[in-house]
Amino acid sequence: MENPLKVIQVGVGGFGLSWFELIQTYEGVEVVAVVDQLDGSLEAAKHRATNQVQTFKGLEEALEVVEADFILIVTPPSTHASLAKLAIKHGLHVMMEKPLTNTLEEGRRLLAFTKKHPKKVMISQNYRWNSQIQTVKELLIQGAIGEVEYGDYYFNKATRFGGWRDEYENILLQDMSIHHFDILRYLLEKEVTEITATSFRPSWSWFKGMPHANVNLMFEQEIRVSYTGRWAGKGRKTPWNGELRLVGKKGAIELVDDRVFLYDDEDDKPKEVPIKTRELTDRLVSLELFIHSILKDTIPPTSIEDNIKSIELTAAAIAAAKTGEKVVLSHHLQ
Ligand SMILES: NC(=O)c1ccc[n+]([C@@H]2O[C@H](COP(=O)([O-])OP(=O)(O)OC[C@H]3O[C@@H](n4cnc5c(N)ncnc54)[C@H](O)[C@@H]3O)[C@@H](O)[C@H]2O)c1
Repeated sequence: MENPLKVIQVGVGGFGLSWFELIQTYEGVEVVAVVDQLDGSLEAAKHRATNQVQTFKGLEEALEVVEADFILIVTPPSTHASLAKLAIKHGLHVMMEKPLTNTLEEGRRLLAFTKKHPKKVMISQNYRWNSQIQTVKELLIQGAIGEVEYGDYYFNKATRFGGWRDEYENILLQDMSIHHFDILRYLLEKEVTEITATSFRPSWSWFKGMPHANVNLMFEQEIRVSYTGRWAGKGRKTPWNGELRLVGKKGAIELVDDRVFLYDDEDDKPKEVPIKTRELTDRLVSLELFIHSILKDTIPPTSIEDNIKSIELTAAAIAAAKTGEKVVLSHHLQ
């Protein structure tokens, strides 16, 4: 691209560093600065820089010195809203990691702020764009199983991060399930109307909060999805996508071990559906969609306006788990 868009990346810790490596491979973007509070993170980024890049310990300082078109936020969720507002005030667009914010209230306040200061704000819900989820999406678009009537979702991992995740009260629902809930919204093209949930912490958990949850999601047209998530799990583990079964009158689609299977009607023997190699997947699709939205002045698919509905699901599941009561989603009441 003749004039690549200039980006300041904020946060080059665990995931940020891999973002930094990835974004430097994308032609339409030039990383002009990297910001992180920790010297160690900045040093690690410098070692991975393919061009000269300025480093700063705070975004404010970077914005005073460097001209950029957008920021990429890859810091802990509690910092997302303030960093986004600061960048928007300086006239920059914002792309950020999930979850939008730590709480729904913060997310709503940020959404209100972006309405007053219109800039592109997009959350990279990268799981939508991986090849497995895209294959399932294509089957649904082709009508391979007819209208989906129910689904089952299962996620089982045992992941030790350390740091901020260990302190969260409902870690699975706050940090991980948003991917799976957002995938469901994307695949079904429906919103959730009500949720019941429980969450719990097994005795051996290294997370202080609840790494396990069972959530029943009722989507529009009474499509029921039963979701089971385990993040301090034992036994056979699933990939990050989890395992998903969607069932319609004409059959079922299953995503198991990142392979996609199509069951025709009541057939017990599935056909494996090949997963196409794609030029861009995952975070690079997020990036491409975001750049397109800036250049063409369009609304990206996982804009803040859309993403607030995914974080609403997290908040509703947490509220349902805490109270034991069914939560009716607010947009459904409007
Ligand atoms: N989409 C995915 O698959 C995926 C995977 C992992 C993490 N994430 C998300 O990425 C984000 C970061 O997660 P992580 O695992 O990299 O966390 P991390 O703790 O490993 O790294 C965070 C980095 O941000 C820096 N930081 C914190 N506050 C800052 C501030 N105000 N200004 C500048 N730097 C600051 C820290 O010093 C650290 O280097 C989170 O929102 C997380 O949910 C997404």
